[in-house]
Amino acid sequence: MSETLKIQKLNEIKARSRLGGGQARIDAQHKKGRMTARERLDLLLDRGSFREVDPFVVHRTTDFGLDEQKYMSDSVVTGWGTIDGRLVYAYSQDFTVFGGSLGEVHAEKICKIMDMALKNGAPIIGLNDSGGARIQEGVVSLAGYADIFLRNTMASGVIPQISAIMGPCAGGAVYSPALTDFIFMTRNTSYMFVTGPDVVKAVTHEEVTQEELGGASVHSEKSGVCHVAADSEADTLYQIRKLLAYLPQNNMEDAPLVPTSDDPLRMDEELNTMIPDDPNKPYDIKDVIRLIVDDGNFYEIHENYAGNIVVGFARLGGNSVGIVANQPAVLAGVLDIDASEKGARFVRFCDAFNIPIVTFEDVPGFLPGTFQEHHGIIRSGAKLLYAYCEATVPKLTVITRKAYGGAYCVMSSKHIRSDLNLAWPTAEIAVMGPDGAVNIIFRKELESAADPVRRKAELVAEYKEKFANPYVAASRGYVDDVIEPKETRPRLINALAMLSNKRDSNPAKKHGNIPL
Ligand code: HXC
Repeated sequence: MSETLKIQKLNEIKARSRLGGGQARIDAQHKKGRMTARERLDLLLDRGSFREVDPFVVHRTTDFGLDEQKYMSDSVVTGWGTIDGRLVYAYSQDFTVFGGSLGEVHAEKICKIMDMALKNGAPIIGLNDSGGARIQEGVVSLAGYADIFLRNTMASGVIPQISAIMGPCAGGAVYSPALTDFIFMTRNTSYMFVTGPDVVKAVTHEEVTQEELGGASVHSEKSGVCHVAADSEADTLYQIRKLLAYLPQNNMEDAPLVPTSDDPLRMDEELNTMIPDDPNKPYDIKDVIRLIVDDGNFYEIHENYAGNIVVGFARLGGNSVGIVANQPAVLAGVLDIDASEKGARFVRFCDAFNIPIVTFEDVPGFLPGTFQEHHGIIRSGAKLLYAYCEATVPKLTVITRKAYGGAYCVMSSKHIRSDLNLAWPTAEIAVMGPDGAVNIIFRKELESAADPVRRKAELVAEYKEKFANPYVAASRGYVDDVIEPKETRPRLINALAMLSNKRDSNPAKKHGNIPL
């Protein structure tokens, strides 16, 4: 065969490989409003940057007639490319081949590029669209999943791992994403469940649709499994690109510096009138964040889950920071189980990847009640506490209003190694709010008072005067300075520069034992 014919043959084989499960199945995929595996990679990565590996791989199974059905590349496309010029590794499951199900070679392909990503210190992105373990391959598929789970765990905290859910993902197909740092889902066309509606019906007699069981709304609002829900596949992929811009390539690097024309000394007068005079009146902490960070850009994670705490990425003076903020506009910013877990996971991510943490604090305490106690607020609150305590990245705290009780300790207090704690003059730092405090410490006096209502008002005023301010804490050095709210941006940028060479560590150990 001449060289020309050999090249022609190569191109024919590659063209076949690119067709996946064939044109009919590609059309069916499009009909469902979903892209193919390769179309997704093209949109995710910088134009023309994708380099595929293993396009010739085919499965080795002969059972159940599979020897008659071989598709080149099998049911996953793997390789690398760039996002904004930075290297990433990616795999994209091909639903047109056996429903994207994972068998032996599918797993081997994913493991190969996960190993490369880890060795070369670059993020790995998985675009998931899979019916789970390939049933015809039996235990070999389960073994393949386990091989991936091990690699997810080894890569955790070393390289960023991002998952997008872009179709019905069942069984093993949800556990690899669950081990990664961030899960993105596409609304209306993606689902995640351990067992699908049919199994649910057989076992529990519940009738439930895929959407009700594990759609993007469920996972981004109720379970918290999904970090970002996007309206379309294109938007899902765009959101991943946006997130990566805030992250370093691996745990040995810092996030990229992104120059900005936003003046580092900018002071916004609006901040000085942000806090309502009535301490029980809410305001939106996101308005505060946007006024302080570079160009008002705040990339929120878990936007629709546990809204009483806000987490996300922004930049200050061009540097990436992770922001954790109590949200007075939702449940008065109280810490409950979901908020604690949401905050804890985010703090740990930032700490693992050298991203300084900026905490905005306005918290009336932990949420009381039987539901919270019975479902383990003690354990969940301890997770957030543990995460802040062990974090060694630069930590900055701004107390805008309430810092009450245990929540004062938890939310990056000086005592748990925060580097710089600033308070606004509106800060109230105390064991509890004035009303509750007076009810407890003056109960007997109030019971015997001639005019209990008047006496209580006097005592509350006295308590407020004494404790509902930042100056007692400042006099002890528990806050480093009390500042005008408008000074916050320049002060935080200055602090980040001051802490740019920070080195801190924890005692040598195999690993700690966070209260999971
Ligand atoms: C082999 C599979 C498959 C699987 C789907 N297909 N899932 N082949 N193994 N797990 C095939 C179908 O036979 C079909 O082939 C094609 O993919 C498309 O599937 P459809 O059912 O036609 O598509 P749709 O109606 O969109 O439904 C998608 C689905 C459904 C919801 C994912 O296929 C489904 O429920 N699949 C099974 C899910 C599951 O229970 N997986 C096993 C999990 S156990 P043809 O040739 O007809 O086009 C597991 C254990 C791991 O993963 C545990 C590790 C911790």
